[in-house]
Amino acid sequence: MREIMEIERDSFPSPWSENLFRRELTNPIARMLVGRVDPLPGKPVAGYIVYWRVADEMHLHNIAVRKDQRRKRVAFLLLREAIRASKSEGARWVTLEVRRSNLPAQNLYEKFGFSVKGVRPGYYSDTGEDALIFWADLDRIRAEGGHPPESVKKE
Ligand SMILES: CC(C)(COP(=O)(O)OP(=O)(O)OC[C@H]1O[C@@H](n2cnc3c(N)ncnc32)[C@H](O)[C@@H]1OP(=O)(O)O)[C@@H](O)C(=O)NCCC(=O)NCCS
Repeated sequence: MREIMEIERDSFPSPWSENLFRRELTNPIARMLVGRVDPLPGKPVAGYIVYWRVADEMHLHNIAVRKDQRRKRVAFLLLREAIRASKSEGARWVTLEVRRSNLPAQNLYEKFGFSVKGVRPGYYSDTGEDALIFWADLDRIRAEGGHPPESVKKE
């Protein structure tokens, strides 16, 4: 949890609290995957993804990668595995909100074939920034398939 909190605080203007992460770990509809570039014991966590499985939908709530591990496909592999797992649980759609200014994350989602379905004006209370609502049909998603690397595992 300590490593995840370090990444979280380093990644977001309004980071989740440790309590919120702990609540997610016991929430029956929440799923969390943790990725490591090097799976050997003691090697640092590289990133994580938190999503909810509700009815036929996957809702992505959080994804972040350690600054010194970015641009190594960690987020890509985490999202790909979350999509694969959600599909195997029966999900048909995936949705998420992202800050309008967050171009790295938007590029990541576009890589999978997500598109913008709407805007929530002033959604982020810390900066007043708009949220873009991204959405994709899991049957039409790009960049999936193959097997997840061993270093991406459920925690
Ligand atoms: C967004 C984030 C999760 C991406 O993680 P990452 O592991 O570095 O991303 P990947 O290496 O898997 O990149 C996958 C794709 O995302 C896009 N991308 C990632 N970082 C990018 C950047 N800095 N600039 C532009 N595009 C970027 C690219 O399309 C990339 O594909 P490519 O390498 O073939 O061009 C990471 O920058 C991060 O933790 N940001 C802070 C937290 C955050 O904003 N989370 C999203 C909340 S909605």
